Amino acid sequence: MAQIWNDDDGERWAADADRRDRVLTSVGETLLTAAGLRPGEQVLDVGCGCGATTLLAAAQVAPGGAVIGIDVSAPMLRVACARQESGGPANARFVHADAQTHPLPGPFDVAISRFGTMFFTDPVRAFTTIGGGLRPGGRLVLATWQPPGVNPWLTLPGEAIGRHATAPVDLRDRSMFTQSDPVVVEPLLTRAGFRDVRLEGVRVPLHVGSDVADAAGYLAATGPVRAQLAAVPETGRNAALADLRAALAGHAEADGVCLEAAIWIVTASR
Ligand SMILES: C[S@@+](CC[C@H](N)C(=O)[O-])C[C@H]1O[C@@H](n2cnc3c(N)ncnc32)[C@H](O)[C@@H]1O
Repeated sequence: MAQIWNDDDGERWAADADRRDRVLTSVGETLLTAAGLRPGEQVLDVGCGCGATTLLAAAQVAPGGAVIGIDVSAPMLRVACARQESGGPANARFVHADAQTHPLPGPFDVAISRFGTMFFTDPVRAFTTIGGGLRPGGRLVLATWQPPGVNPWLTLPGEAIGRHATAPVDLRDRSMFTQSDPVVVEPLLTRAGFRDVRLEGVRVPLHVGSDVADAAGYLAATGPVRAQLAAVPETGRNAALADLRAALAGHAEADGVCLEAAIWIVTASR
């Protein structure tokens, strides 16, 4: 996983950071609302990537508070540091390390993560390490995906592109969905020492593009839709993309194209 986030996926996210953060704005806002950060709090942002939520959280805990963002991806952390240097809050710091095993000097009041906890190879160990940095009673607040089948931003491209594929693509096995089932998440966090585990299903709009062509281009470049396109023979790709654009046209408004996403806001206490 560390290698993936330092090579292909990490470089892709880093190159497209501003765009992706615009798409995921609603998720970040929902996460931070649930976290209810207060000035003076110490926060850990797990799998912080290019630092968008770290820097937003840092502004919310000032004055007196601070945020550490931890991530394994060097290219994404380079973007995070550059963002901070170009006018971001000074009370954020970024650490290049594996959150599964790297103990951070807490105690933190809150650990947050926007889609940064689904890629652990040993999730119990990882959440035990994260919990170890929280003060007693400290909060864990995560955004994770609900399953692909209830996520219109994936089912819409899946239906349009799937007609042209040689075989159906099952997205459920992708690592981004490893924490999409409450039956998995609740016992996982309990084993890692957390209490009062709750998953609240939330539906948020993803602004995937400024118009239909822009939205189709963005979606075609994201991991899950790329995987669906890869199942289409070369000769059918143009027709698949035309069907994707036609499906997106039904969601085009004056300010662009929005598709709905289904996420969990997972909360627990130490
Ligand atoms: C889907 S991205 C989300 C990034 C960021 N939270 C955001 O919302 O833009 C997942 C992030 O988790 C990081 N990650 C994966 N495994 C990790 C680990 N074991 N320790 C720290 N970060 C990890 C990746 O490098 C990547 O930045």
